[in-house]
Amino acid sequence: MANPSLLILAGDGIGPEVMAQVKRVIGWFGDKRNLAFDVSEDLVGGAAYDAHGTPLHDDTMARALEADAVLLGAVGGPKYDDLDFSVKPERGLLRLRKEMDLFSNLRPAQCFDALADFSSLKKDVVAGLDIMIVRELTSGVYFGEPRGIFEEGNERVGINTQRYTEGEIDRVARSAFELARRRSGKVCSMEKANVMESGILWREVVQKVRDADYPDIELSHMYADNGAMQLVRAPKQFDVILTDNLFGDILSDCAAMLTGSLGMLPSASLGAPKDGGPPRALYEPVHGSAPDIAGQGKANPIACILSFAMALRYSFDQGDEAARLEAAIEKVLADGARTADLMGEEGGMPISTTEMGDAILAALDASL
Ligand code: IPM
Ligand code: MG
Repeated sequence: MANPSLLILAGDGIGPEVMAQVKRVIGWFGDKRNLAFDVSEDLVGGAAYDAHGTPLHDDTMARALEADAVLLGAVGGPKYDDLDFSVKPERGLLRLRKEMDLFSNLRPAQCFDALADFSSLKKDVVAGLDIMIVRELTSGVYFGEPRGIFEEGNERVGINTQRYTEGEIDRVARSAFELARRRSGKVCSMEKANVMESGILWREVVQKVRDADYPDIELSHMYADNGAMQLVRAPKQFDVILTDNLFGDILSDCAAMLTGSLGMLPSASLGAPKDGGPPRALYEPVHGSAPDIAGQGKANPIACILSFAMALRYSFDQGDEAARLEAAIEKVLADGARTADLMGEEGGMPISTTEMGDAILAALDASL
């Protein structure tokens, strides 16, 4: 049987540097665990714009649809700030999400024991935190029509539309409930049913799916603004949070920062099963392209490597190998390996992106 295929889109800024370490890790699993992948690479974001005048070439889009999983680094940078909206680096990412139909975006926010002091919150509020945000990713105000900037009388009006069908809510709710079954069985759904009709429908449909097919799940509902407040007040009350595209964008940044280590968090975006097999999937770190430190060997590769761990788990049914990789990362952190973003007040000499890769490979070797 052919090896599973992985398309790597390293993108811009620190994307290529962190991805270089992921490639070493992928190679390790091929050599040492007999888990070989057919890896190919292509351009996305500003890098694709520089080469082709578009942030995602049609050929790249076609390859992404063919691949068993896509690994993405990061897109964007100040160089591209003045580009027309239609060719901005972010549009490449949004096109991938939309055309691969990646409706369920999993964003874990996990506080690593070795790093609990890094949070801006008190240590006891975040120590041991392990929550998962399930963000709807292909609809809502990001994609709803009408949208645009229009003339109205003698001024302009900017319009975006929050729009959700029952089917779109239904499918992302199911993915959250399925995930919750493998965790604590608890889901909190967040919307603004007090002011938005789309929120009323969201709440109704989520409850209906739960009552019909997931009676074992403990479901609660919360207004998203209260959810933001509760996330910083007492985040450990949550396990799985289910929410829409825009609220999910905001709440996931908030949750990520609770852990004090944005450079550590992976994400998975999953769609419908491809050819009856595992879902179409794209994995990417939560952090951005960090242009201020790009090219200096300072970036933390862990978020991107953990994104590959999520690929092992969700695309390739290799949960044990994913756990092996996650444990290797916990170990290097416990042993004190720190890239610049993890230096905090204790000071000391940070290690480089490549040295963090070295440490993780050594920990993987030690796991055999
Ligand atoms: C994210 C990012 C994107 C989003 C941008 C880069 C388009 O903020 O993945 O959270 O808004 O979804
Ligand atoms: Mg965001």
